[in-house]
Amino acid sequence: MCGIVGIIGKQPVAPLLVDALKRLEYRGYDSAGIATLDAGLIKRRRAEGKLINLENLLGNDPLSGNTGIGHTRWATHGVPNETNAHPHQTEKLAIVHNGIIENFRELRDELIADGYNFVTETDTEAVAHLITRSMDNGLDPRSAVSQNLERLEGAFAIGILFKGEENLIIAARRGAPLAIGYGEGEMYLGSDAIALSPFTNVLSYLEDGDWAAITSGGVEIHDVSGGRVQREKQVTVASSVMVDKGNYRHFMLKEIYEQPEVISHTLSHYLDFATSSTRFPKELPFDFANLDRIAISACGTAYLAGLVSKYWFERYARVPVDIDIASEFRYREMPLAKGGLSLFISQSGETADTLAALRYCRAQGQHIGSVVNVRESTMARESDAIFQTLAGPEIGVASTKALTCQLSVLASMAVAVGRAKGVLSGQQEEKLVHNLSEAPKFANQALKLEQEIQKIAGDLAKVKHVLYLGRDTNYPLALEGALKLKELSYIHAEGYAAGELKHGPIALIDEDMPVIVIAPHDKIFDKTVSNMQEVAARGGRIILITDRTGAAKASMDTEHTLIMPDMPDILTPLIYSIPAQLLAYHTAVFMGTDVDQPRNLAKSVTVE
Ligand code: G6P
Repeated sequence: MCGIVGIIGKQPVAPLLVDALKRLEYRGYDSAGIATLDAGLIKRRRAEGKLINLENLLGNDPLSGNTGIGHTRWATHGVPNETNAHPHQTEKLAIVHNGIIENFRELRDELIADGYNFVTETDTEAVAHLITRSMDNGLDPRSAVSQNLERLEGAFAIGILFKGEENLIIAARRGAPLAIGYGEGEMYLGSDAIALSPFTNVLSYLEDGDWAAITSGGVEIHDVSGGRVQREKQVTVASSVMVDKGNYRHFMLKEIYEQPEVISHTLSHYLDFATSSTRFPKELPFDFANLDRIAISACGTAYLAGLVSKYWFERYARVPVDIDIASEFRYREMPLAKGGLSLFISQSGETADTLAALRYCRAQGQHIGSVVNVRESTMARESDAIFQTLAGPEIGVASTKALTCQLSVLASMAVAVGRAKGVLSGQQEEKLVHNLSEAPKFANQALKLEQEIQKIAGDLAKVKHVLYLGRDTNYPLALEGALKLKELSYIHAEGYAAGELKHGPIALIDEDMPVIVIAPHDKIFDKTVSNMQEVAARGGRIILITDRTGAAKASMDTEHTLIMPDMPDILTPLIYSIPAQLLAYHTAVFMGTDVDQPRNLAKSVTVE
């Protein structure tokens, strides 16, 4: 949830720490702070709010020192003010932490009874005092950390700096990601590869339960049993160039515009356009032909990608899909047949609830497949098969290109499973693959509607509530449109299956309530037209997103009709995502909200 960085360098590290935090700000942006060792003494600067506040503070009051740690926070315990900002400090150490220490109250009471004085509302401070107490009792930093890790309950990644120890940072991970970076006589620590990308691309990922002592000469890693272990050094492809806004005003807009390219990149990984066939790795640990049920679990937008894929797997492969939001799934105690496939969808590959659902399914003897964007992520590493989305780094907190790449993988997979099971003939596979190959072209055409969408957004920015309707694969898209609008513009929005309108939401319809209907001309288009008529009859304001045929056939008075190109059914959830994204984006721009970092949200939710 928060971002962590650490550097043992040969030059002053404060500017480098801030630079790395900029690339981690997507993980949280309630406050930020750094601490360095200056002549053996711990010095720190912290500021409430965005990183720019910390930068300004450092501009007036710089920090020297060649060893340091930094943190950008998404508040879990304690309001986002300067006091609760990391690093937290005691007389002996400074600590940064991502995650939650679940038993912090018990630890705090015990430490207070021992005379330790707490000044923050955070769970992290308990860890700081716990390790300090061991050092007060004569332990060296390594022993003090390793002996206390077993006292901590919950998920965490931590980095610690010690007074008088210029050549040491200790890190530990359980449940939250942490990478060690190798430089020339310099060493790094970071929540992900992107944070460290300008410094090094040679990384080792700590495994759950590991702790590591990092010095300028290298790293000593210990596993949960305390024994020394080696963690493989990997060369990562994460590049800082990819996390540049370019000429775009926001990351989100840049990422929306990247979609034709990344969809094409992802599709061509799973489809062979020359032969119009699907191509999935032959050496999968399970056979597509033998799948008789798939359990899917994910959070947020990734969950909605999964919901679309339920229609596809059931339609094109005749494989029933159980799908659930990961936070529900993990406690639902769902019976799962041994040897079945569980599929997890996640941009980051680190979302705590999805990861917990994955581990639950692993314990049930399921095959684990994951559709992830970050190949080095925990979810990817804990899966039997990785179906990577090739979206590149997604920085905007609201997911855009990750969604359409997830849909690209899932549509390709549904066709592959359908073919493997003999549900689809070779000819049908060929046709669907050809249809999918047209996605980048249609995505480009959808982007051309931006100016028109901007006009609609101008109207949406004036309302308090919006209803989105859709049917079939466009029902999850109605949910996604509503999710995007509320998270970016803070306008209350709800998505409904159009057929469900009469069972409740119709009571909300009046002349102030825009109803956005996502309705390409498909086999159930006429049903959706009836729902629009129900809205029109009650004075509702209809914004219709349809295609040329749909617009002609609907022949209805609408406030706006956005006309998309005619396209095959399998493409509509992918391509209609684009106007939904642009609509939310421009409404938020009109409202003046922080598009890339909406309030209270975080890109990667690594706490429960
Ligand atoms: C957060 C983000 C969403 C994202 C969800 C799941 O809520 O703001 O955009 O869809 O987490 O994240 P994941 O990394 O698992 O796809």
